[in-house]
Order: sequence, then structure tokens, then C-alpha cells
Amino acid sequence: MNEDVKAIIVKYGKDVINSDDFRSTFGQTHHFSTTVGDHTLGVAAEAVKICLRHGLTDDETLKNVVTASLCHDLGIIGRDDKFRNNAQCLMRHPVDSGEKYKEVTGEENERILDSILSHMFPLKPRMPRYKEGWILTMADKIGASREKLGRPSATGKDRDEILKSAEKHRKDP
Ligand SMILES: [Fe+2]
Ligand SMILES: [Fe+2]
Repeated sequence: MNEDVKAIIVKYGKDVINSDDFRSTFGQTHHFSTTVGDHTLGVAAEAVKICLRHGLTDDETLKNVVTASLCHDLGIIGRDDKFRNNAQCLMRHPVDSGEKYKEVTGEENERILDSILSHMFPLKPRMPRYKEGWILTMADKIGASREKLGRPSATGKDRDEILKSAEKHRKDP
């Protein structure tokens, strides 16, 4: 992962990354070959790359996109215990992720929430209302496809560097 992309993820996402809920995502496998946490960091990287490619580099857009990316699958944690099958997981985890987003950040940003709720479009027929949601739904699919090809958007090294860098910000006054 490019250093600029990593720095943007840490700058706008450090508080989410340092949360206990986010840290727990590295303990659950996802798409068979990765964890929810690694998938999530890969999606954040793809989303930031889309923003940079299209000149969408204002603070608000980057913050919304990074936060929505980092929180989009928090609701999938514990899936075997709370969802009966994959179809139920598909429909419900975006709603649970939205609740987790509010819990973890203490915020309720309409654009971020809408992006999380609609990230499974078109499989779940809830269309994004904002550009952040379109970026997230594209990035999620690119990230998942790359995992299936064995070329994940975030490697173990990327993960370690991002977690370490976010951790450093927590300790700074
Ligand atoms: Fe998802
Ligand atoms: Fe995802």
C-alpha cells in the first residue's frame, strides 16, 4: 500500500482504528482467506485511492470515506451467533454496522451512515444517496475481488504499520 494512502487512513481513522470494536475485527475470518479487519483496511485503501484519483481530497470527503470504510463491516462481527444464514447476514449486517459506527464514534453523520447502510448495493437493493456511498460500495467490491485473487489491498505489513501508527497518535498528548 502506498505511504500516502496509509497516512490518510491513519489521519482520518485513528480513533476508530484504536477502538476495541475495531481491534476485535482481526479475530474473525472473512471471504475465507482474510479477517474482517484486513478486509476493512483494504477497502479503506481502495476508497482513498478512488478519492485521490478523482481529486476528492477535501477534509470532509476523506473523513467521511475513511470512517465509513472502517465501520462498514463492524456489524458482521459475531455473524455465526447472530445471523441464521448468509442471506440474513447480507441484509442485516449493514444495519448493525451503522449502529456500531454510532457507538464507536459517538457521531451520527448522515452521509457516513447512509454509506454504511447502502454498501451492499446492488445485492441489497438500497442505493447510496451520496458520493461517499458510491465510493464505498465500489471499494468494497474491488477489495473483496482482490482478496479472492490472492492480491489483497492491505497486506499483513500494511496492517501492522497502520495499527502502530494509529497507536502512536493515541499516546501523543
Ligand atoms: Fe459488508
Ligand atoms: Fe466489506
